[in-house]
Amino acid sequence: MNVSEAVATRRSVRKFTGQPVDRATLTRILEKAQRAPSGGNTQPWNATILTGAPMQALFAKVAEQFPKGREAHAPEYHIYPPELEGAYEARRFGVGEAMYAALDIPREDRAKRLMWFAENFRAFGAPVLMLVHTPKYMGPPQWSDIGMWLQTIGLLLREEGLDTCFQEAWAVYSPQIREVVEIPDDHIFFCGVAIGYRDPDAPVNCFDVPRADISESISWEGWD
Ligand SMILES: Cc1cc2nc3c(=O)[nH]c(=O)nc-3n(C[C@H](O)[C@H](O)[C@H](O)COP(=O)(O)O)c2cc1C
Repeated sequence: MNVSEAVATRRSVRKFTGQPVDRATLTRILEKAQRAPSGGNTQPWNATILTGAPMQALFAKVAEQFPKGREAHAPEYHIYPPELEGAYEARRFGVGEAMYAALDIPREDRAKRLMWFAENFRAFGAPVLMLVHTPKYMGPPQWSDIGMWLQTIGLLLREEGLDTCFQEAWAVYSPQIREVVEIPDDHIFFCGVAIGYRDPDAPVNCFDVPRADISESISWEGWD
């Protein structure tokens, strides 16, 4: 698999088979991903990788919060800026609608949508959940470095036939995560990453997620 194939075949997988992922594979990928660039080579990424009983304990801890609904949500940062609007907001809305259409869950069926949202907190059936955090004093440049590292991991996983779903949703349950997973107090919790083998037949893994034309984001200067 070349880089273009890895990029083209990566998608957010939201239904995994139960097939386990061995630690040696993850170690190999994480060692390669250390080559990801970061401003000043600070390498500001930190993570805890769960599987088995500790992961199930986290799922159970978080599930206790579901009846409280949004009141229990306590992210340590704005998952989306409150000002999100225009094309950005339309894209965010669009992917949600496309996903629920693939799942055949209509907009009015709030209960079913919530039940599906809860799948986030079972890592969509993945056998591995990586929890990403960084010192609280790190700023936007370092968060961007973490993004480069995460995408590097995502692409390397593709090379090994594995898939991911990056999951900011976990941020809403940061306090519960901290109860059962050792995350330093002076670190901010960023996101989860579900890792495993995709169920290729699941409709939720097959819907199209369009991208804007590059003319919407790129301008050229000094070209013909
Ligand atoms: C940092 C980050 C956090 C994300 N959080 C979630 C999440 O909590 N739940 C989810 O289902 N998808 C999540 N996504 C997936 C995005 O919705 C997805 O990347 C986007 O719609 C583009 O689709 P694609 O990844 O399938 O190409 C996240 C993606 C990123 C990069």
